[in-house]
Amino acid sequence: MTDLSGKTALVTGGSRGIGRAIVQRLASAGCRVAVTATSQKSADGGAAAAVDAGSEALAFAADVRDSARAQEVVGEIVEKWGGLDILVNNAGITRDTLLMRMSDEDIDAVVDTNLKGSLLYCRAVTKPMMKKRSGSIVNVSSIVGITGNAGQSNYAAAKAGLFGITRSLAAELGGRGIRVNAVAPGYIQTDMTNDLPEAVREGALTHIPLGRLGDPDDIAKGVAFLVSEEAAYITGTTLVIDGGMSL
Ligand SMILES: NC(=O)c1ccc[n+]([C@@H]2O[C@H](COP(=O)([O-])OP(=O)(O)OC[C@H]3O[C@@H](n4cnc5c(N)ncnc54)[C@H](OP(=O)(O)O)[C@@H]3O)[C@@H](O)[C@H]2O)c1
Repeated sequence: MTDLSGKTALVTGGSRGIGRAIVQRLASAGCRVAVTATSQKSADGGAAAAVDAGSEALAFAADVRDSARAQEVVGEIVEKWGGLDILVNNAGITRDTLLMRMSDEDIDAVVDTNLKGSLLYCRAVTKPMMKKRSGSIVNVSSIVGITGNAGQSNYAAAKAGLFGITRSLAAELGGRGIRVNAVAPGYIQTDMTNDLPEAVREGALTHIPLGRLGDPDDIAKGVAFLVSEEAAYITGTTLVIDGGMSL
């Protein structure tokens, strides 16, 4: 079991799905966890999962697209807990359709939430992490950012952009003891994928060598590894967690 005792973490979009599983896993490893979501009620739900796992938690209603709120959230965590060791940029949405039918709003919402939001939170944590001369950031991307996917050009653009952020910041911050990595989940069973037609699910299954859809905790285990001491010499890389789907 990964030991993160004494550490503090911030997980964006920690109320449901993959984010909530990450919150639970980090909390179980002894980490204090701050959770953001779009409303106080959903953030409180994520924080409760951390408390149930035996950790201290904080909950913030914070739209990741709001730059001033990102600074406020990080400032409050640092004030309450004395620093921030781990950031997981997990909040994300999809607005799938063919590009010819995609509205400006579909493009802006997906790029601003998945890509710009991560950039804003990376920027907000940089100062406190540099002060400590240590820290670990994980950006939750997607295999779609590597392979592309018809009907997801907005999402694929945002998720591919996360690899650029990850590698650039790894180079920028490595000298200050801060590691930056990404995970690229495949098809994971959450609210995001629950609405997809049965035919899409069945089709995806035929492309997964390990023969099952992913569970949110499959991703959480990878994130917990990347932020732990076991990954002390790993930065600027992407851990693909997709049951072999992208092979
Ligand atoms: N599921 C998959 O197959 C899959 C595959 C590859 C990558 N991913 C990525 O994994 C991450 C988590 O996905 P998921 O499947 O767990 O999704 P999910 O179940 O739909 O949960 C999304 C989370 O993001 C939060 N969120 C959405 N928009 C936000 C905003 N503007 N500001 C703050 N928080 C916001 C939601 O908060 P509320 O509860 O308040 O709405 C929720 O906590 C996403 O980045 C997604 O792109 C998922």
